[in-house]
Amino acid sequence: MRTQVAIIGAGPAGLLLSHLLAQGGVESVVLETRSEEYVAARIRAGILEHSSVELLEAAGLGARIRAEGDEHRGIYLQWPGERHHLDFVDLTGRSVWVYGQTEVQKDLIAARRAGGQEIHYEVSDVALHDVELSPHVTFTGKDGATRRLDAMVIAGCDGSFGPSRSAVPSPTVHEKVYPYSWFGILADVAPSTDELIYAWHPDGFALHSMRSASVSRLYLQVPNGTDPRSWSDDRIWDELSKRLGHGQNGWKLTPGPITDKSVLPMRSYVQTPMRHGNLYLAGDAAHIVPPTGAKGLNLAIADVALLSRALIATIKDNDPRYADAYSGDAQRRVWRCTHFSWWMTTMLHTSGDPFDAELQLSQLRWVAGSRAGATGLAENYAGLPIGY
Ligand code: FAD
Ligand code: DHB
Repeated sequence: MRTQVAIIGAGPAGLLLSHLLAQGGVESVVLETRSEEYVAARIRAGILEHSSVELLEAAGLGARIRAEGDEHRGIYLQWPGERHHLDFVDLTGRSVWVYGQTEVQKDLIAARRAGGQEIHYEVSDVALHDVELSPHVTFTGKDGATRRLDAMVIAGCDGSFGPSRSAVPSPTVHEKVYPYSWFGILADVAPSTDELIYAWHPDGFALHSMRSASVSRLYLQVPNGTDPRSWSDDRIWDELSKRLGHGQNGWKLTPGPITDKSVLPMRSYVQTPMRHGNLYLAGDAAHIVPPTGAKGLNLAIADVALLSRALIATIKDNDPRYADAYSGDAQRRVWRCTHFSWWMTTMLHTSGDPFDAELQLSQLRWVAGSRAGATGLAENYAGLPIGY
């Protein structure tokens, strides 16, 4: 088999890349270890930045976001006794959208199917070869047959556990593991808030997010290694109520049936360079951020915006300028989002150290009380323009 771009991974990065390449007249083949149903149902991110929505709309993928997504002007920041609204539209002219990664994934799958995209699901033994001179990928298909896919370029969009990142020889890796995790639940109950609540509490961080008018998504800071089965539903709602301030100024958290429980460890990881020869990395294959601030999916989309332009210019116009600049350009935003995610995480998660707690509260008061502080958070949260 032969194609112009071999894309490893059919997550948001891989499928969006295949979509943008097709729109630019470049053909690709996508390889994915999981089934289409599994990939479409994976519960992950929930917030789209302003520029992610702009990009998806420009790519013809915005109809359902507009119809079913929920535009938010900002977020609430709170700590015991206080809740403050930060209005991103007022501060920066940019908003965010509540629209689940599952829905982005479904829109991408539908668009690629309509475009006749070749996607091989449920493959195994994926291996990258000769990425400098004659790039090709070998894999075992769903039918058990071994195949070879030759390409001009390989795009590693295979997330944090895929083989692409290790095909870059001697990369520089920066990693930070946090001493806490997120316990996330999905619940069939209308959100108890109109916009997301980020809550600092002496017993740990809590976040009230949502997926729709009838589905809530909530998170609790828990110790690493927490087993989600060891928490009863009552204990989860009690802890959320306490940390989110049930009863504070008359606000109430309404509990409901929990449909999903999971624990997510938190780390920052940046691998550089994001290109080696004819192999390019995008999304979680090159970097991971802790979830606070909702940057992971948005960063994958921003990488792909740069990478699609670079590959189209190289392959269609024989112009290597964008490809040569790709790793450096992408890393600029990666480090901005890495810093922002680290900053939100360390400002909101408690460590048990009273000195740290006072610094966090001081920082929160400044962010919520000063236009300059609030604008800094808003600009990063709503997202800098693509190409920043
Ligand atoms: P992925 O979505 O990981 O896609 C990579 C794809 O490659 C997958 O489909 C995988 O099956 C496939 N693959 C792996 N190995 C191979 C192989 N050998 N061959 C072929 N294909 C392969 N971000 C937020 O902003 N907010 C959140 O709340 C949030 N929650 C998260 C919860 C979890 C459990 C995880 C893992 C991530 C979460 N993220 C969150 C991060 C966000 O989901 C990711 O940043 C985003 O999915 C990145 O997209 P991607 O396409 O780069 O990688
Ligand atoms: C969600 C996740 C985040 O990391 C965040 O900061 C906000 C919302 C979510 O899954 O809804």
